[in-house]
Amino acid sequence: MEAICSKHLMTSLVIILASSLTLSQGAKKGSDSERPYQEASTVFIRTSCSSTTYPRLCYSSLVKHADLIQTNRVVLTGTALNVTLASAKSTSAMMSTLAKRQGLKPREVAAMKDCVEELADSVDELRRSISEMAQLTPSNFEMTMSDVETWVSAALTDESTCTDGFQETAAAGGSNVKNTVRGQILQVAQLTSNALALINQLANSHA
Ligand SMILES: *[C@@H]1O[C@H](CO)[C@@H](O)[C@H](O)[C@H]1NC(C)=O
Repeated sequence: MEAICSKHLMTSLVIILASSLTLSQGAKKGSDSERPYQEASTVFIRTSCSSTTYPRLCYSSLVKHADLIQTNRVVLTGTALNVTLASAKSTSAMMSTLAKRQGLKPREVAAMKDCVEELADSVDELRRSISEMAQLTPSNFEMTMSDVETWVSAALTDESTCTDGFQETAAAGGSNVKNTVRGQILQVAQLTSNALALINQLANSHA
């Protein structure tokens, strides 16, 4: 009798445990947070991005690296720069290929070539800003942040010059190639602008 009773008890316990597990898993699936530390990092990324010019792009480009970023402002800024550099590099490669395409008008070829050069400069400037960031210590903080700001501002200027060139020719025709190129460069410029805002946040966090 006693054995049967405890067997029943065990069975009920197992059922209760199993159903509470299922419940908690269901609840987990419904939310985008899986572990507590991830939630803290996504909140941190969202909050940091909220003061950038393109907060949604900022968040979507950085949340993939939430595990690395955690709630570290220096890593957040470094990641934003790395993401921007990767985008600038792939856009630059795409532009070089497109500039060699047949059937482009001389004016378009000229705009492409200018853009390829400006993007190469901006890739270079972003690289420098990333290597500056890698040297960041508490004792050189202000000087390094100021240098990083200078390089990233220069990169943004070069990218803007490039998009301006495209705006002019796009008004004349508006082909698919031009719109694709313009969209890509705009994205690079928006990522750069966001990185600059995060750099300013980091610089001010030590004030
Ligand atoms: C950014 O890229 C550099 C160079 O590849 C690397 O050393 C650094 O760790 C990266 N930073 C972050 C925050 O991922």
